[in-house]
Amino acid sequence: MALTIAVDGPAASGKGTISKALAAHFAFAHLDTGLLYRAVGAQLLQGADPLEAARSLRAEDIDADALRNSAVAQAASKVAAIPEVRQALLDFQRAFARRAGGAVLDGRDIGTVICPEAEVKLYVTASDEVRAERRYLELSAKGQDVTPEGVLEDLQARDKRDSERATAPLKAAEDAILLDTSELSIDDAVARCVAAVDAVRNAG
Ligand code: DC
Repeated sequence: MALTIAVDGPAASGKGTISKALAAHFAFAHLDTGLLYRAVGAQLLQGADPLEAARSLRAEDIDADALRNSAVAQAASKVAAIPEVRQALLDFQRAFARRAGGAVLDGRDIGTVICPEAEVKLYVTASDEVRAERRYLELSAKGQDVTPEGVLEDLQARDKRDSERATAPLKAAEDAILLDTSELSIDDAVARCVAAVDAVRNAG
């Protein structure tokens, strides 16, 4: 049974890792929608008009590795507050969600705006401290010049902007399953999500 799985949550909550694992487990396609905003944010940093950048974005040109740094993350959060930028990225995301083989999309507004009809909605959180620690380890392992305090400030600034914006703010859909990963290993978090998806598949 092909499903759409929506995975939302704040930065570094574990939603990306969970989404990749779910896609691999069920052989579904996976779209990290944050990369779309990061790609537009990176172009803003290079002086481009964000709306033009969003309209001309080609998913196959996105280089995920080059986009995983704090400057691009902040720029992504800023361009994501522009309603026209979100609109320009909408059709691509909805088309992806309808893929015949099933799809997992992760982001901030997948369960609320992009795929309100998704069969499974997960909302993944973790404490600020746990999220900052994870992101610090990830960025410093790549050789980036970051401090734990700086990473925490970055995450909190983005969360605030992402959840307070007028259009498609970060929030759990009313019918989302909430998962706090602060105290869970990756394997445990993934196992709970797989079980949640299986419950829907078996009921359908
Ligand atoms: O998931 P991420 O940290 O890579 O996302 C980067 C930024 O993009 C995030 O701070 C807000 C924005 N974003 C969004 O507004 N809506 C999404 N569906 C995904 C990301």
